[in-house]
Amino acid sequence: MTDTTDSTDTTESTDSTDTTEAADSTNTTDAAAGTSRAPSRRSLIGWGGAGLALGAAAAGGAAAMTRTGDDVEPTAAESGAAVAFHGVHQAGISTPVQDRLHFAAFDVKTEDRAEFVQLLKDWTAAARRMTAGHTVGEGAYGGLAEAPPDDTGEALGLKPSRLTLTVGFGPSLFERFGLADRRPEALVDLPQFAGDNLDKNRSGGDLCVQACADDPQIAVHAIRNLARIGFGKVVIRWSQLGFGKTSSTTPEAQTPRNLMGFKDGTRNIAGTESGRLKKFVWVDEKDGPGWMAGGSYLVARRIRMNIETWDRTSLQEQEDIFGRDKGEGAPVGKAKERDKPFLKAMKPDAHVRLAHPDSNHGATLLRRGYSFTDGTDGLGRLDAGLFFLAYQRDVREGFIPVQRSLATDALNEYIQHVGSAIFAIPPGVRDKDDWWGRALFSKDSKEA
Ligand code: HEM
Repeated sequence: MTDTTDSTDTTESTDSTDTTEAADSTNTTDAAAGTSRAPSRRSLIGWGGAGLALGAAAAGGAAAMTRTGDDVEPTAAESGAAVAFHGVHQAGISTPVQDRLHFAAFDVKTEDRAEFVQLLKDWTAAARRMTAGHTVGEGAYGGLAEAPPDDTGEALGLKPSRLTLTVGFGPSLFERFGLADRRPEALVDLPQFAGDNLDKNRSGGDLCVQACADDPQIAVHAIRNLARIGFGKVVIRWSQLGFGKTSSTTPEAQTPRNLMGFKDGTRNIAGTESGRLKKFVWVDEKDGPGWMAGGSYLVARRIRMNIETWDRTSLQEQEDIFGRDKGEGAPVGKAKERDKPFLKAMKPDAHVRLAHPDSNHGATLLRRGYSFTDGTDGLGRLDAGLFFLAYQRDVREGFIPVQRSLATDALNEYIQHVGSAIFAIPPGVRDKDDWWGRALFSKDSKEA
């Protein structure tokens, strides 16, 4: 899976970026998106159990409510901003990176397998509608006055904003529901890395949902509504808002900058590189287990930056630390951002030199992180940094070796990893009858 040739320091690094490959047909056009209904208000009353028997009784007689903006399919121009939900792979990995993130990790509270499976089906139905720009269930108003509406309403009137929802299963989920023998070998517990200072309240989780959109309100609305549907069965363990994507999957676009002011994501895997996606990102059928074929593995790390110290560091040192210049983003000794890095020209502890595939037996990640600022730390410093998200076919040949190599990274003086989680990302939802995790939970399925 990873390249075995290690050409570190012997020659100019190899550049395996192949922009000539055909686009990866990840997410097919989805005429059905938005047609199936998320759980109705009646079932929400049941979940909430909040003494709304009156509403439950009346629901049977109520006509399905539609409302302005939700009673018609989006026009072509509007739906242009929707990313197809159905596909071989989940959207939100190799699809173009949006500007905003709301990421949530959940803990499972129910011990009832059938109830949890129903939740995954309900989440899928809601996700199908929200990504197409529709409200959840029967909408945000116009229904029973005695019951809470199905949708919380804050996305009314907003466009789909390229919303993608990507679900993942954490190692601890496999301790439940008789799933122990289904845990993928590649879903390892991440080892302790040098310099880790992890907060358990910002780490782990049985499940995750990554919501990305160009409008933060759309991403927040999506997580909020999924959490609401999950009331009584799952609870949010931690969540992270992100802005200013720090990596791109569309190389022709301008490379975004991280909070240290450097272009980030120059040498990422592009969504059009089907060969590299197949090699480094998508789980192959022969990798096993069968239910993960077409899926991926996600490592999430909340990396705090010592912004104030960084801002007092000389430009020369900043550039030495990354091994690229700040203006153009060119590797040391080169003129242009896209020029092949010559690793030997960089300091031995430069970030790019240590993270480069040639220094790690070919290990290659698809990075999809976001910047964050979460107020201050009480000591007059911003609680800011990079919410690092990396997708790969096998973390044992992806994140783990690269992060180990970064033990001597000069950047470590300015950053600290404070949160960590790993998730198995199942394959995409194929059609309107499919749901997140179907193959995992279908004991008799050949795919499972
Ligand atoms: C706050 C922490 C970090 C910052 C600010 C940062 C920033 C950067 C920058 C500016 C680049 C050069 C541009 C590019 O090719 O994308 C880069 C490259 C890279 N980084 Fe990071 N990074 C951080 C953490 C990490 C971590 C934790 C990993 C993985 C364990 C990682 C893996 C990589 C890789 C694989 C490359 C591309 C190397 C190449 O192929 O030339 N980075 N990073």
